[in-house]
Amino acid sequence: ITNKSDEAKFISGKIENATLDVSEEVGLGALKPTVVATAPIAGQKPGTSGLRKKTKEFMSENYLNNFVQAVLDAVVAGGTNLSEGTLVVGGDGRYYNDKAIQTIIKMGVANGVKRFWIGENGLLSTPAVSAMIRERGPVWQKAFGAFILTASHNPGGPEEDFGIKYNTQNGGPAPEYLMEATYANTTSIKNYKICSDFPEIDIATPGCTSVAADDGSSSVVVEVIPSTESHVALLKSIFDFGAIKSLLDREDFSMIYDSMHGVNGPFSKAVFVDELSQPESVLMNHIPKDDFNGGHADPNLTYAKELVAIMGLDKKGNKIDVSGSVPSFGAAADGDGDRNMILGSQFFVTPSDSLAVLVANANCIPFFSTQGGLKAVARSMPTSGAVDLVAKDLNLDFFETPTGWKFFGNLMDSKCIFKGKDYTPFICGEESFGTGSDHVREKDGIWAVLAWLNVLAAQNPDSSKALVTVEDIVRKHWATYGRNYYCRWDFEGMDAVGANAMMDKMRASTAANTGRTVGSYTIATADDFKYVDPVDGSVAQKQGIRFLMSDGSRIIFRLSGTAGSGATVRMYIEQYETEKLGLAVADALKELTTIALSLCDIKTFCGTETPTVIT
Ligand code: G6P
Ligand code: ZN
Repeated sequence: ITNKSDEAKFISGKIENATLDVSEEVGLGALKPTVVATAPIAGQKPGTSGLRKKTKEFMSENYLNNFVQAVLDAVVAGGTNLSEGTLVVGGDGRYYNDKAIQTIIKMGVANGVKRFWIGENGLLSTPAVSAMIRERGPVWQKAFGAFILTASHNPGGPEEDFGIKYNTQNGGPAPEYLMEATYANTTSIKNYKICSDFPEIDIATPGCTSVAADDGSSSVVVEVIPSTESHVALLKSIFDFGAIKSLLDREDFSMIYDSMHGVNGPFSKAVFVDELSQPESVLMNHIPKDDFNGGHADPNLTYAKELVAIMGLDKKGNKIDVSGSVPSFGAAADGDGDRNMILGSQFFVTPSDSLAVLVANANCIPFFSTQGGLKAVARSMPTSGAVDLVAKDLNLDFFETPTGWKFFGNLMDSKCIFKGKDYTPFICGEESFGTGSDHVREKDGIWAVLAWLNVLAAQNPDSSKALVTVEDIVRKHWATYGRNYYCRWDFEGMDAVGANAMMDKMRASTAANTGRTVGSYTIATADDFKYVDPVDGSVAQKQGIRFLMSDGSRIIFRLSGTAGSGATVRMYIEQYETEKLGLAVADALKELTTIALSLCDIKTFCGTETPTVIT
């Protein structure tokens, strides 16, 4: 049975009428769950951002089903009633997205879910899911959670990666305890529940499908929602679209936004073409592809190379010779639309600087100014200290958290329980090209792009005057606060045993390294970053080996929590300067980089000291 019959499709808002009309036609027995025997599958431990594996592994028998059942069981054990409210399902459009959605619906129904919201064509960006959970529907329909089908910036396709993550009622990634419970469930699972006869849903067409049980005792509604609806409405309430449009309409301003064939394409079109009346030429790679066109949809200088060249830069962020004109503003998004890269004309803004500049200028954005001004900021530990200086200057509450957006969510939600303080409005960011605020509980790529454009618009109130550029704004920022020279080296595809041994050795040597002189630096403290959540007291251990130099410079090592296979070693280098503001980054960080390579001895442990990516 399919929902092809016209009666089964109703536009949003007419759901109640739909229920009885179609029950007899598509209903008989469709809600009857089958209990299918299964056995634990090794390796289903979620990482920084859900479970990511090779697509083929996900497509192998019971792999997805086991994990989905493990999540739903953990969610129920955590006190959620699946039959109240709505389950959101959508993804970044990668290969297997569409099939996985049908499986999740059938399993959701078997486990008691009564209402689903599915993104049109299965597409929902990660921040759009968060917006949908928080903003959509009357109280009785509010979403209790969401499955997001994404491996973020990892390549997609039958030979590449697939991923799944679960977000909770606040719109943010599932907290640690829920993922631990999920993992425990995967190791003991004996069966899963599925309604095999539940109809395939036509996810290409917005509308409702209602399916009733044979005895009429209950019914399930699956609503396919235009993907951009909730998120774009929210963005319009945050920014000054009028001022942004005036900036974009200037003769001397031009922009280009690369969606890298990920899910951001429809969102960039909805905002820039439909709302801000710009020509389609401002969009690049905006048609989602299930393999991201064979690319690596990660917005950084290495992988967004097409855009980087258009903006007149090489992969190290240095200016190259250009013949024609270069756009004034460039941006890119990752596969699931939560990351951003910001570029000016022949100018790369590091994510850490981007965060600091947005915090310093936040109050020109209506979301902040209308709530009495920005109150608090947070950054992940490896993110540079540039934002710390702004927070101090502006007297904002400041937090340093481990890597992973979920740590910000607790702070944002702390309103009633943390010393009676309300941290709204709140901005946070990470060196890994993530920036956002408490409008949702995920990082938000298109939010960051609009935030920059809103700041640029505010800095350019008079279109008859010469344009104040991205580069002007960043250089002025450095002149005010000093410059945190920063880079990250990634060593991808390392042997996990060697990489772990390397980390263990540094971990065991922190005491011995403390106080040691290395080159012209002294290690004031070497430690393994530990975070005690100020809201709920939970402790996150082993969050990265830090070498904190006596002059404030830092060298940090972590193993990525998002690597699809093997291990990715991340090495972060930072040096603060107040005088020498115009050096090339590689020159400014030369000695620290050499010291870092010898402190970790990656050559011995992993057989190379040449990074695969530098950001
Ligand atoms: C995801 C998370 C971020 C995190 C990033 C890098 O995008 O949402 O919070 O910073 O991955 O994580 P990794 O563990 O690979 O450094
Ligand atoms: Zn992402």
